[in-house]
Amino acid sequence: MKNIVILTGAGISAESGMGTFRDTDGLWTRYAIEDVATPQGFARNPALVQEFYSIRRVKAAEAMPNAAHLALARLERAWPGTVTVVTQNVDGLHEKAGSGAVLHMHGELAGALCSACGHRWRAPDKMEAGDRCPSCNEPTARPDVVWFGEIPYHMDRIIDLLAEADLFASIGTSGQVYPAAAFVDQAREAGAQCIELNLDPSDISHVFDEVRTGLASQIVPAWVDELLGTVPDVNPAEEERDAP
Ligand code: OAD
Repeated sequence: MKNIVILTGAGISAESGMGTFRDTDGLWTRYAIEDVATPQGFARNPALVQEFYSIRRVKAAEAMPNAAHLALARLERAWPGTVTVVTQNVDGLHEKAGSGAVLHMHGELAGALCSACGHRWRAPDKMEAGDRCPSCNEPTARPDVVWFGEIPYHMDRIIDLLAEADLFASIGTSGQVYPAAAFVDQAREAGAQCIELNLDPSDISHVFDEVRTGLASQIVPAWVDELLGTVPDVNPAEEERDAP
C-alpha cells in the first residue's frame, strides 16, 4: 500500500468549533444555500454573502486544529508513500496542523477572487459588497470559495490521485455533495481499499469496505496509529511528540 488519498468534510473541523452544514444545528438550518452559497445569491445580495463568509473567516482564523487534523499531518510525515488531503473545508486547519499536501476543492476563506479578471489575493478579515480588485480595480471582489453551480478546484489533479490510490479514506462528510461524494466510486474502480470515518454512517457508507463511527478526534488518531503500526521503524508515540 503506497498512495493514500483522504477526503475531509466539515465533521473533521466540528470539534475545532467550525460547525457543520447538515447536522441538526448545522449552517444550512439557519441559512438558505441559495442565498449564501450560489452565484445568484451573491448577485442578489452581496452584502449578506460577504458578511456570511467574513464571520466564518474570523472564526476560522481563531480556530485551532484538533487531534484528527494533527493525526493526518503525522501520517503525512511518517508514511513512506504519498498522503494527500482533499478537503471540502474552506478553513485552514489542515495546514495549521502541519499537513503540506492539501487540495482545497471548495476554495478557502483566506482567499479573495476577482470575478472580473480572475486575480487572487489574501482576503482581509472583513470583505464587503463592492470591494475592489487590487489588480483591475473593478468592484468585483468575492470570497475565493466554490459555490453551488460552480466547478470545484483541482479536479484534474484529484481524478489523477484517485486513479493511483491504494487507500481512500473519507472523514467527516455526509456524502451528499457531488463530485466529492463520487470519489469513493472512482477510488474503488482504481482498486483502492475504501474506509469511512464519520460520527454516524453517511448516506453512502454502503459503498465503503469499512466504516468506523465516532468522534473524529478519537477515531482518526486511532486509525493513523494502526496504519503507522504497519510501517517498519515508525514508532507512533515518538511521532506524536514531534507534532506541532
Ligand atoms: P455536512 O454538514 O454535510 O456533513 C458533516 C458530516 O460530519 C456529517 O455526516 C456528520 O455526521 C459528521 N460529523 C459531525 N461531527 C463530527 C465529528 N465530531 N467527528 C466526525 N464526524 C462528524 O458537511 P460536508 O459533508 O463537509 O459546500 O458538506 C459538504 C459540502 O456541503 C461543504 O463543503 C459545503 C456544503 O454545502 C459548499 O458550500 C459548496
